[in-house]
Amino acid sequence: MDKLIVEGGYKLQGTVNISGSKNASLPILAAALLTDEPVRISRVPDVSDTNYMIQILSQLGASVERSSGTVRIESPDGISSSASYDQVRKMRASICLLGPMMARMHRCTLPLPGGCVIGDRPVDLHVRAIQALGARVRVKGGNLVIEAPNGLVGTTVDMRGDNGPTVLGTDNLMMAAVLARGTTVIESAAREPEVVDLANFLNKMGARIEGAGSRTITIHGVERLHGCEHTVIPDRIEAGTFMVAGIMCSDTGITLNRVCEEHLGAISALLRECGHTVNFNEAGDSVFVKAGEKPTSGKILTAPYPAYPTDMQAQMTALFSVTPGISVVKDTIFPQRFMHCSELKRMGANIKVDSGTAIITGVEGLSAAPVMASDLRASAALVLAALAAEGTTEIHRLYHIDRGYEMLDDKLMSLGAHVQRVPDPDEGKAEL
Ligand code: EPZ
Repeated sequence: MDKLIVEGGYKLQGTVNISGSKNASLPILAAALLTDEPVRISRVPDVSDTNYMIQILSQLGASVERSSGTVRIESPDGISSSASYDQVRKMRASICLLGPMMARMHRCTLPLPGGCVIGDRPVDLHVRAIQALGARVRVKGGNLVIEAPNGLVGTTVDMRGDNGPTVLGTDNLMMAAVLARGTTVIESAAREPEVVDLANFLNKMGARIEGAGSRTITIHGVERLHGCEHTVIPDRIEAGTFMVAGIMCSDTGITLNRVCEEHLGAISALLRECGHTVNFNEAGDSVFVKAGEKPTSGKILTAPYPAYPTDMQAQMTALFSVTPGISVVKDTIFPQRFMHCSELKRMGANIKVDSGTAIITGVEGLSAAPVMASDLRASAALVLAALAAEGTTEIHRLYHIDRGYEMLDDKLMSLGAHVQRVPDPDEGKAEL
């Protein structure tokens, strides 16, 4: 177990390359199960979540080779239809194996993913989707046991849940439907860029999917899919995180390369509304960010894409903590996703959290304190705060960050930050 030592106050400068998207890679890696031909996926970030997915695919019987960012997967007939608990429990997103396993083998046994610190992570919409295509679903010994002995048959499914659309639920239904008999229409589909990237990957494999990126996706079932090559889209949440870093911790501003302007609309708009500079190049694949002279507080109401993403509210809360005025953050998707606030308060932030809303009163500056990472994005918020704080901060449980940020410490060091990853002898001791 590692911890990150961050010496605050060093100003960032220069340029950083953003990695491929973790949240696009995970369903695309799972979709490799849909064909017995080899697929090659490039720019898969080397983070623990994608490594878990690769381990699960190998355990199922697929052959997986990884060389730097490119992953080659071949899933021969006879691969297993059940994933092991000890792998699945590590990553809730393993639920996105459901669709491809059902499409390929018409049966699967998947451990029910546990909850996590950002809240209960139900799978009722995933179950609704696969039942609609004709599968029978039972819960047995903590596993989802799903069978469709007569195969899957296309139909229309409304995927809206109490908290709006579901990203991985939409992915699962799309992946289950590509080999189903007939046509499937997904109503209230998620519009995230990662859903569009998966649809593009599936169409390269020979699927017939229309409307990805809109609320209605139509999938015409086909007999079989073939191998293909694909490069995943840039990680918009990593990009957003570095945009906030360039505004919180730099006098000159910084440049991010390998981004996609189209995917950063809500994030860029909020930073501009708060008085900061966000300038994309002509191609929209590079962006320069710099703190405004008179930054102002702001308001976030997270909602499904293209609105402001829940995965970016913690990072923006770190910036709001040192922005004059009162800012408000309400997370409509994960109302409990405020673990970072108590840690930021240890660093001197002035935040009140009440029923899914954080009220942040900007302070002059933050001060270093030993803090605990909790979930992936909360941990990123602590790194941002530590970079801006006075003194040296120790961030424990670094594994949370390693789930979704590729070489974060190296990237920050290349921008001039003084950070150091060291073994954490205290890790695992009883919490105070
Ligand atoms: C994806 O999770 C992302 N993960 C999450 O990013 C992201 O926060 C989330 O979408 C929302 O944008 C990946 O793509 C791997 P949902 P997902 O199903 O698909 C409720 C990160 O930090 N819901 O879109 O699992 C759910 O409780 C991670 O990278 C049901 O009620 O999220 C939530 O309130 C964290 N029933 C809302 O829908 C279901 O069956 C949206 O969840 C499924 C979801």
